Amino acid sequence: MGKVDILKLIKERRSVRKFQDKEVPMQTIKNSLEAARWAPSGLNNQPWRFMVKSKQEKDKLAQYTKFGQVVKEADKLILVFLDKKSSYNYQKDLMAIGACIQNMLLYVHSLGLGTCWLGEILNQAKEISRELQLPSQLEFVAAIALGVPAGEVKLTGRRLLKDLTLV
Ligand SMILES: Cc1cc2nc3c(=O)[nH]c(=O)nc-3n(C[C@H](O)[C@H](O)[C@H](O)COP(=O)(O)O)c2cc1C
Repeated sequence: MGKVDILKLIKERRSVRKFQDKEVPMQTIKNSLEAARWAPSGLNNQPWRFMVKSKQEKDKLAQYTKFGQVVKEADKLILVFLDKKSSYNYQKDLMAIGACIQNMLLYVHSLGLGTCWLGEILNQAKEISRELQLPSQLEFVAAIALGVPAGEVKLTGRRLLKDLTLV
C-alpha cells in the first residue's frame, strides 16, 4: 500500500452543502461505516449506531432542519445515534462518536465524495424520533449528508496553532 498523506487529507476536507444528482453506491456507504466503526471508544464500548436514509425517507427528514436543502440535495443521509444501553459515560461516549464521525468524513473525502455534518437538526430530535419510531435506547446525535460534490466549497480557515496552545 502506498503512503497516504493523512495530514493533507485532513486539511483539504471541507463541508459540502451542494451535491450533484448522482447516486453513491451502497458499497461506498458500507465502507464509510466500516471506517466509522474502527474509531476508538472508551472501554471499546462502540456506542455508535447508524441508519442510512435515501430517497423519500431522506427527503421527509429535510423539514426538520434549516439545512433541508442540503438534506434534499445529498444522495444519502446517515443518521448517527448513541446507543444508551452501550453507554458508560455520556461525555466520553459522545467524544467517541465524534471520532467515529470524523473517520467517516475523512474516508468519504478520500474518495472525492462530500459530506456535511448536520447538528442543527438535533433541535428537532424529538420530532425525528417520533417520525422514525426510534426505540428509546437510541439518542439521535448527528446526521451526515453525503453525496457527489457540486461546484466550489467554502474554504474555511482555522485559528493559528499558537493561539490554541497554552504555555
Ligand atoms: C457538531 C457539528 C455540527 C454542525 N452542524 C452543521 C449544520 O447544522 N449545518 C451545516 O451546514 N454545517 C454544520 N456543521 C459544519 C460546520 O459548519 C463546519 O465543519 C465548519 O464551519 C468548518 O467548515 P469545514 O467543515 O468546511 O472545514 C457542523 C459541524 C459540526 C462538527
